Amino acid sequence: MSSNPRYIPALRFRWLTRLYDPVVRLSTREREFKRLLIEAIPMGSRRILDVGCGTGTLAILLKEHFPNAEVVGLDGDPQVLDIARRKLRAARVDVALMEGMAQELPFDSESFDRAVSSLVFHHMTTDVKRRALAAIHRVLEPGGTFVLADWGRPHNVGMRLAFLGVQLLDGFETTGDNVRGALPDLMREAGFEDVSEVHRVMTILGTVSIYRGRKPSPHTAA
Ligand SMILES: C[S@@+](CC[C@H](N)C(=O)[O-])C[C@H]1O[C@@H](n2cnc3c(N)ncnc32)[C@H](O)[C@@H]1O
Repeated sequence: MSSNPRYIPALRFRWLTRLYDPVVRLSTREREFKRLLIEAIPMGSRRILDVGCGTGTLAILLKEHFPNAEVVGLDGDPQVLDIARRKLRAARVDVALMEGMAQELPFDSESFDRAVSSLVFHHMTTDVKRRALAAIHRVLEPGGTFVLADWGRPHNVGMRLAFLGVQLLDGFETTGDNVRGALPDLMREAGFEDVSEVHRVMTILGTVSIYRGRKPSPHTAA
């Protein structure tokens, strides 16, 4: 679990976790990219999984945007889940939180119609990214949608240089796929179809990309 030495907490070092919300708010244009992520989710969502929910900011926004949907947040770090629990209580928002790993999702197959993940995949090695995408594909219903926001291929040289800050903090091994723009291919490899980058946002730390894909349903499969 999160005691794994290769596990990267929200801001790399545990003692920085309590600063996560202000740092992300100031450095990633968080409101804008999370709004774009939510807008990329199809209407009529019933059960949404937030993979690597961290301090719960996105889960709260999801529940506000889709009040009739059940929202479940999962994260591997109990410390960050404590912060999320406090925020949910203060916001009086009903979201279920669970401790668990993205690559070993503790849910039944085909039990969600939507899954999202924000700023989590750059914490994973390529192998863990593959396993997490396979697990997300498994828990989605046929026809279900996955929206992934994370650092993507930089818009330009300035964005590439800005991203070096994130790489120095979170490591070059786990962030390399992001810079190469490999996340959509990894999504396709896991079985998602109609994968595309639906938005990209310039931030002071680099380019945040929002990718969307769908699990094939019997009606859409070739
Ligand atoms: C940078 S934070 C992002 C939090 C939140 N999604 C957001 O957008 O603000 C990354 C989060 O992913 C979690 N995480 C990293 N690897 C994970 C894994 N393999 N399984 C579950 N959670 C993971 C970390 O504990 C952390 O809370």
